[in-house]
Amino acid sequence: MFSRRRVERGVGGAVSVLLARRRSEYRLPLPCPGWCAVLTTAPAGGAPHLLRLLGQTPVAFVDAPMPFSHNGFHAKLEYLSPGGMKARAAVAMLQAARQRGELRPGATVVESTSGTLGVGLAFAGQALGHPVVLVVDRDIDRSMRTLLTAYGTTVEVVDQPHPVGGWQQARLDRLHQLLDRLPGAFWPDQYHNPDNVTGYRALADELVTQLDVADVLVCSVGTGGHSAGLARELRRHWPGLRLVGVDTVGSTIFGQPARPRLMRGLGSSIYPRNVDYRAFDEVHWIGPVEAVDSCRRLARTAFVTGGWSTGAVARVAAWISRMESGVRVVTVFPDGPHRYLDSIFDDAYCAAHGLLAPAPAHPIEIPHPYAVEVTRWSRCRTVLDPVAVAA
Ligand SMILES: Cc1ncc(COP(=O)(O)O)c(C=O)c1O
Repeated sequence: MFSRRRVERGVGGAVSVLLARRRSEYRLPLPCPGWCAVLTTAPAGGAPHLLRLLGQTPVAFVDAPMPFSHNGFHAKLEYLSPGGMKARAAVAMLQAARQRGELRPGATVVESTSGTLGVGLAFAGQALGHPVVLVVDRDIDRSMRTLLTAYGTTVEVVDQPHPVGGWQQARLDRLHQLLDRLPGAFWPDQYHNPDNVTGYRALADELVTQLDVADVLVCSVGTGGHSAGLARELRRHWPGLRLVGVDTVGSTIFGQPARPRLMRGLGSSIYPRNVDYRAFDEVHWIGPVEAVDSCRRLARTAFVTGGWSTGAVARVAAWISRMESGVRVVTVFPDGPHRYLDSIFDDAYCAAHGLLAPAPAHPIEIPHPYAVEVTRWSRCRTVLDPVAVAA
């Protein structure tokens, strides 16, 4: 089935791309006119042919120079699938809810997200025939808001943080008001819904087909969905696989105190139940300076690049390949660069936020997640579930 295998070399041999797509995908019929129109609601009955476009993304070998030399790593390029990586989770959550009868045909889907899941739900909503309402906060990127509206979702903007629970709580409060107002509306609840985790089974299967074996999997962690799903599936094929989690400074997921965060996608201010703490061998916290530096380096010399989480995982994957020669490292680039043209790739934005400072080439090693409050790239080989610790 996976009949195409093509190797391309970038300038200076920076990238080898293994394309592994089903032959049939090259012969898809042209999209129907309904797909091209700017939709205000999902098409009645859905556009299930869209589902055939999901996944089957290529893997690139990346050895673009970081501030240190390294031996390269493999990266799954999820931005080459419509809706990016999170469309897999979105489709899985909606399909499972439909099977259980929790989501009736044509019913509205409501979720709190300012990020990639919104695009994924826009995709899943059109494919399966559900209008989508997204609760976002005031600080959502302008381009993201435009994109979500163009894809036919209704964007509900929350303009005041909750006095105690911040933006996340304010969004949840609005979400519950909407669920009360919209009969039959369904909330996927990506942070705690196990169907988010199982949505990555196909991604794992693709990796097993594309790579002989990997020793280390490096994953960004937001809801915990893809790290948990991939580790579980891949270890059935590669039992010795180590899992390295990548969070952002200021995120609570791995036991650090909450602080304002510039980086989006990875990190959280809550403790998502989808994070499989026992699956992780170590965690790294990355700061925005390091992520910007990595994204820009990748763009300049490897062509494949992306947003905050891509910069973060690339840094860590490259560093592990440097420190442990001979170890085969694989990571996932969840989305591409286009949403970040006004931030990561914008000199004025980066200068205004102090993101063009020299980025550290090595992490600080900390003995315990609670030992110090991290403010730059740090690494800890003890991984704890903060909820279990507090209990
Ligand atoms: C761009 C991006 N990267 C990484 C992640 C983290 O993935 P997960 O939620 O599977 O932990 C997210 C989650 O929303 C994301 O939007």
